[in-house]
Amino acid sequence: MGGPGGTSAPRRTLSASFTTGSSLPVVARFYVTTPIYYVNDVPHIGHAYTTVVADALARWHRLIGDDTFFLTGTDEHGLKVQRAAEANAVTPREWADRTSERFREAWAQLDISNDDFIRTSEPRHHAAVQTILQRVYDNGHIEMGTYEGLYCVSCEAYYTVDDLIDGDRCPIHDRPVEHVKEDNYFFKLSRFTQPLLDWYADHPDFVRPETKRNEALGFIRGGLDDFSISRSSISWGVPLPWDPGHVTYVWFDALVNYLTAVGYGDDPQRFAAWWPAAHHIIGKDILRFHCVYWPAMLMAADIDPPVDVTVHGFLLVGGEKMSKTRLNQIAPADLLGEFGVDGFRYHFLRDTPVGPDGDFSYERMIDRYNGDLANNFGNLLSRVATVVGKKCEGVGPAPRPDSPLAVVAAEAYRATAQAWGEMAPSSALEATWRLIRETNGLLEDNEPWKMAPGPEVEAVLGDALEALRIVAVLASPALPTACAEAWRRIGLEGSPTDEQLPDAASWGGYPGGLPVTRGAPLFPRLTPTPG
Ligand code: ME8
Ligand code: MG
Repeated sequence: MGGPGGTSAPRRTLSASFTTGSSLPVVARFYVTTPIYYVNDVPHIGHAYTTVVADALARWHRLIGDDTFFLTGTDEHGLKVQRAAEANAVTPREWADRTSERFREAWAQLDISNDDFIRTSEPRHHAAVQTILQRVYDNGHIEMGTYEGLYCVSCEAYYTVDDLIDGDRCPIHDRPVEHVKEDNYFFKLSRFTQPLLDWYADHPDFVRPETKRNEALGFIRGGLDDFSISRSSISWGVPLPWDPGHVTYVWFDALVNYLTAVGYGDDPQRFAAWWPAAHHIIGKDILRFHCVYWPAMLMAADIDPPVDVTVHGFLLVGGEKMSKTRLNQIAPADLLGEFGVDGFRYHFLRDTPVGPDGDFSYERMIDRYNGDLANNFGNLLSRVATVVGKKCEGVGPAPRPDSPLAVVAAEAYRATAQAWGEMAPSSALEATWRLIRETNGLLEDNEPWKMAPGPEVEAVLGDALEALRIVAVLASPALPTACAEAWRRIGLEGSPTDEQLPDAASWGGYPGGLPVTRGAPLFPRLTPTPG
């Protein structure tokens, strides 16, 4: 027993999800990742969707006091990037530098709070890939073989004829595959069928949602083929430590980024702290790699798989997947001028539930913005500030301890927390917005703007200010800027991100006596632009 005051057992360093000993705080770790995006393409709203979801989750987990690490980055090796560079008459590295920067800029514009940005061309990553490759090779799970097959350069993956559209086009990209024959090293995935099935059986929440878990299980039960992990005909990649004439095949390289960033092969203590507390957020196009290949690769290297993989659907434009070839890509910047950063984030979090495909609709984006942001949240804040100005000389009153909104707030917090915990931002925001609606309802029922100044008007406004304080905390993962501004306008110091849940959600935190200021509308109403 290593409890406080225990004599014999050595004190464990913080190495897993929890510290030991009741006198130490319990620190949960939350390590969240996005895919690392290919640098052959520039950021569009599909990439932004995944990244905003991961960002909101990271922000939520920081609020609940979890030790949080949020990783995104770029995937820079492989044939696809080599060709994009050639087409633009620059070296792969120059091309990667340039496009990687576009992703960084896009994420800065969208208020993405990543703690690290990894590039697979970095030396730290090459070192980690070589470490895991050698480990898996020494464990006997990598062997030489000859590959002859059909390769989709856009997927950087081999296909069998049965997988293809009309026997010759990639099912994801609808483009012709290439015939490739080469000596390759293979990862012996076929040996991991049973270990994977066991892992899934023991970890029912390994893949969310359920439909995607079933899809992954379908792949595993359908039988697994060994897959190629190296190419000798290209040079833009990580050389195999035991045979440097080969570079690693993109997926073996790319997936390892999740280990590199937390110190694999470099800082064992740091690695032990963060791994396997990992939560991957991905789109359905890369389900097979994350839900089948990746856990098997980790097992082959004696490393535990991550906690879970959350798989979302495609964001479609006019019913079709966005692609360079279809020229139907929408860049985040195209929407920011009109909706603002928070309006953009809110739409994708609220209107595109994680799981099914969703068609992007400008009209729906306008409706959601006007409905939830301008008319509900924004209007609540401006009404309260106006009436406090007129009836309370601009000084915000304290809430009633027995306010009818207290139970509404408690329930909103409970449902909001549960939904974020289930990686369901849309439901989380829906739950938070119930408190906004009930608070607007309280104002409409009491019409404080018609009352004479006095205790009655103060009671209602104090309740509304307290509800706004709680909303500013609960909605801050989605609307970081607007929530900080609402916080300031109701006279509070610091910002919602300094708060900690669940304490910050308990009724009665608004002290009263603070200066409440009116300002320009938080979310000016929008009228759709024609065309
Ligand atoms: O696959 N709808 O990179 P990638 C929703 N480098 N999400 C979309 C989307 C859409 N229309 N289009 C892209 C790769 N995404 C690899 C990943 S990870 C170790 C290596 C998002 O640039 C979604 O998250 O093709 C999808 O999984 C990812 O971008 C694919 O990005
Ligand atoms: Mg892709």
